[in-house]
Amino acid sequence: MHKIIMIGCGVVGQGFLQILNDTAEHLRTKYDFEAKLVAVSDKMKGSIMAEEGIDIPTFLAHLEAGKPIGEFQAPGAITGLGPIETIKQSSGDMVVEVSFTDLKTGEPATSYLKAALKAGKHVATTNKGPPANFFGELQDVACQNNAILKYEGVVMSGTPIFNLLDNCLAGNDVQEIKGILNGTTNFILTKMENDGMSYTDALKLAQELGYAEADPTADVEGFDALAKVIILGNIVMGANLTMDSVPREGISNISSQDIKGAATNGLRYKLIGSVKKVNGKVEAYVKPVKLPLSDPLAGVAGAMNALTFSTDLSGDVTIQGPGAGKIETGFAILIDLLAIHKESDCCKDDGTQGSNSQNGSCCCN
Ligand code: HSE
Repeated sequence: MHKIIMIGCGVVGQGFLQILNDTAEHLRTKYDFEAKLVAVSDKMKGSIMAEEGIDIPTFLAHLEAGKPIGEFQAPGAITGLGPIETIKQSSGDMVVEVSFTDLKTGEPATSYLKAALKAGKHVATTNKGPPANFFGELQDVACQNNAILKYEGVVMSGTPIFNLLDNCLAGNDVQEIKGILNGTTNFILTKMENDGMSYTDALKLAQELGYAEADPTADVEGFDALAKVIILGNIVMGANLTMDSVPREGISNISSQDIKGAATNGLRYKLIGSVKKVNGKVEAYVKPVKLPLSDPLAGVAGAMNALTFSTDLSGDVTIQGPGAGKIETGFAILIDLLAIHKESDCCKDDGTQGSNSQNGSCCCN
């Protein structure tokens, strides 16, 4: 029985808890995966630690009613601990980190991840801030402590691109990764082109539908897509890209006229993020690009994301799917926890690999 500590308790965290509760029986019978929630700590909403377990449906109803986490009733509950104290004091073996994202500093999430990994706890995160800024460092801490760090949801939420690369496309040399990495901007561009909506109205609708970040500047000016480009470049291509080193342009200067003009020439605007190996270096950008309609990325509409992997052996492989959403991103956490469950004998105490070790994620010597 795994014991889960959840750090952050917003939309994604609640989506994950919903999935964990609704699929419990399926997870037990099909994957031999059993888990209970033993602690939740959210900087704004409060915290609870209850080693006997927190009943998920009642807890979700409590949150739905807008009540503070610390007022939830559970046997033996300890309340009032901050995220790091919770991680250190709880006996939980898996930390689900879904706290708020700061793309510039990666904090405080990076400190939460380090505390968890240093305590030898496995981690699943959907937070872009830490891997965009400190991926190598975090991976080292994980390895030093025989812990597993998983992050499938940081790019394209529950659409599994890291698993695709690590497993199905393994053996290929990936020369370029290019695509639509932000749902909000793709939704806005689609609404402007298909429904003749203004930029402002389309952005407002994207906010109402919950696609946009708390500050939508991160979406429309390309920072969110940039963070994902950096994560891809650094993790997949071993680059050293930073938020300041990659050229970035958003969509706020694209007018309805520009979109119409492109359409008359058989072209369609998309906000494209790309990382490409060029003469031993990795080049990257985020910018609006006019794509021919024959490009698979041109057909990706609404809040969908898509990535084309240009590989030496498989040619171009394109994957399309959701890049945001409560359940979709909550599902990314489930992908990671099931992988951790499968691999958790990966790093044995003596540093050798266990029978379930998989490529890319085992950190043994
Ligand atoms: N605001 C982001 C988007 C959410 O629109 O894609 C997922 O990172």
